[in-house]
Amino acid sequence: MPLALGTTAGRSLRGRVRVPGDKSISHRALLFGAIAEGTTRIEGLLPAEDPLSTAACLRAMGVEVSPIEAGQPVLVQGVGLDGLQEPASILDCGNSGTTMRLMLGLLAGRADRHFVLTGDDSLRRRPMKRVGGPLAEMGASIAGRQGGNLAPLAIQGRRLRGAVIRTPVASAQVKSALLLAALTAEGPTTVIEPVQSRDHSERMLRAFGADLTVGGPGATEVTVNPGPSLRGQAVVVPGDISSAAFWLVAGAITPGAELTVENVGLNPSRTGILDVLDQMGARIEVLNARDVAGEPVGDLRVTHGPLQAFNIDATLIPRLVDEIPVLAVAACCAEGVSRVSGAEELRVKETDRLAVMARQLGAMGARIEEFADGMAIAGGVQLRGAAVDSETDHRVAMSLAVAAQIASGATSLERPEAAAVSYPGFWDDLQRLQA
Ligand code: S3P
Repeated sequence: MPLALGTTAGRSLRGRVRVPGDKSISHRALLFGAIAEGTTRIEGLLPAEDPLSTAACLRAMGVEVSPIEAGQPVLVQGVGLDGLQEPASILDCGNSGTTMRLMLGLLAGRADRHFVLTGDDSLRRRPMKRVGGPLAEMGASIAGRQGGNLAPLAIQGRRLRGAVIRTPVASAQVKSALLLAALTAEGPTTVIEPVQSRDHSERMLRAFGADLTVGGPGATEVTVNPGPSLRGQAVVVPGDISSAAFWLVAGAITPGAELTVENVGLNPSRTGILDVLDQMGARIEVLNARDVAGEPVGDLRVTHGPLQAFNIDATLIPRLVDEIPVLAVAACCAEGVSRVSGAEELRVKETDRLAVMARQLGAMGARIEEFADGMAIAGGVQLRGAAVDSETDHRVAMSLAVAAQIASGATSLERPEAAAVSYPGFWDDLQRLQA
């Protein structure tokens, strides 16, 4: 059933909202907890489809993970670095690229065990060689469709050797997979990225007791010395800035809006969205900045105001890669033409987000010129309600909801349920903030 949006014309957005736990940190807390010794207690874990996929895979390999329910701490009973059992069946990663890629790194080194990873229609189209290629340099054996690029992927676990690996793309999924493989390889491994990607793995692995150092220009080189076992930890997951992004943009573009988003993770490798909103002249304040279990956190207050066009290039992309769809909505409301370049990675996300946003926002009257590596978005456009489709992408679904908020007339959104991949309560929060 399509969802009717934008029928509350004239209603602004007001109030406080607590976004669910950070998706990246949630996956890592489950995975690292699974291979630690002892119990890991996770508070604030994201109770959404993607982390549920990670938990289900871990359970299938003999890891006890307590039920994942909103507001309840999750307990993971670690099985140690090499304690994962060979699963009796295929491991289903659902829609989750992070699950599949990190799992490849984790499982490639489990000698004498066989694993098969698959996922939904979207995930089975996403490139996996970016992980399998470098893992092969460490001695991994991973086979799949199209020369090992596409799932289903079969892993024959082997003892791996450490290596120095330069990754061609700045991807935290690739980096994290290699760091996981490095934990039990023979000899040290160094991963060198072109630009630093999000560093949640580095922070959390160190907290769990791994021997890991970060160096190089702009923190682009990470070295793991294998050896120490990981120890179970208490992890507190902050709210996801990638989910907060929808409210930040909605607040900035909706006349009369005044929103406070509480408990948002403000790790500098993730806050590109704040830099861009600042560039646009958006009225955003960081309140109550603090440190929670090794990650910076704060509350963000946003009010409506005039916006200028933005310019985003390749150096900034890793710090806001998931926020481009909603920033495209903001661009429609700004003065001038906004530009995104160096963003070819968006074409291999849950959908081809450059094409999908150009198509769907275009149906609402946006003027977007699409390029191989980005787009130009004309500002000063009055969006109009239309029949649009998430095309199964969670971030597209929520971005279109933000667009519908300021469009003239009603919008109907096909496949709104996609939002549950990262933000199951999104539609309830939207209704509440409009009320
Ligand atoms: C993620 C990294 C990013 C991001 C994804 C989550 C992670 O992907 O788009 O939503 O948790 O490591 P890439 O590493 O492919 O850029």
